[in-house]
Amino acid sequence: MEDWSDCLDVAVQIARRAGQVVQSAVKQEKRVSSKSTPTDLVTEADHQVEELIISTLREKYPSHRFIGEESSAAGVKCELTDAPTWIIDPIDGTCNFVHSFPMVAVSIGFAVRKELELGVIYHCFDGTLYTARKGHGAFCNGVRLQVSKEKDVSKALILTEIGAKRDPATLDIFSGNMKKLLSAPTHGVRIIGSSTLALCHIASGAAEAYYQYGLHCWDIAAAAVIIREAGGYVIDTTGGPLDLMSRRVVAAGTREIADYMVKQLQPINYGRDDTDPDGLA
Ligand code: IPD
Repeated sequence: MEDWSDCLDVAVQIARRAGQVVQSAVKQEKRVSSKSTPTDLVTEADHQVEELIISTLREKYPSHRFIGEESSAAGVKCELTDAPTWIIDPIDGTCNFVHSFPMVAVSIGFAVRKELELGVIYHCFDGTLYTARKGHGAFCNGVRLQVSKEKDVSKALILTEIGAKRDPATLDIFSGNMKKLLSAPTHGVRIIGSSTLALCHIASGAAEAYYQYGLHCWDIAAAAVIIREAGGYVIDTTGGPLDLMSRRVVAAGTREIADYMVKQLQPINYGRDDTDPDGLA
């Protein structure tokens, strides 16, 4: 049975290299365009970094498959098979990157037989490195991570992200969900503009729960391994098992808080990553 430890080492090296490219790109002028909606941004750096990550991994592992944010946006089918598959977000927090707002990450996940095996997330502004391999724990700069054990939602800090859809009906549901959680009352709700880094804060115990409608498989893949290995839960917003392609997630340090979130949330519909690449259905 393969333990994929060499893949983790390789992913760490590539994430650091990619992170350095992002760091220097932040200081330069950016050419920005939009994808599914005017708020779904992409820059030349996103393409450049994805190309760097995929070409380096492909050279090392020619038989492996790849799912990348920008390749998918360009029309490559987003398909998770039983084959070893790398799931890549070259720049998570592209809007932050455009504004030089310091919450930007490179995220590299890896799945085999549709099971997530490892995750690497590199914070491009401060160099923090989150890593995990299934069954071997989660780490931040080499120090073991542990989720919050808080069960009482009135003592919870909740994180979320807004997603690309901004039509009035979607925003009404989004604000309704926020209102419910704020008036629970929880300690607060935060939005930092990077799903992967927000999820890392669940793994480190800095916040108790995360939920989002509208994120993608490349936003969840690496982080799901890191949170689970830190002792946390990553599930579907209906309470069932995580469906990587469903574009929705609840993550929490304890099952009690995860269950509470599931009961509160009203869904926002996004098309699936694997069957609806435009994703706004
Ligand atoms: C996005 C960011 C954003 C979240 C979106 C993600 P990107 O990733 O994490 O905060 O709301 O759902 O897709 O486009 O910057 O890689």
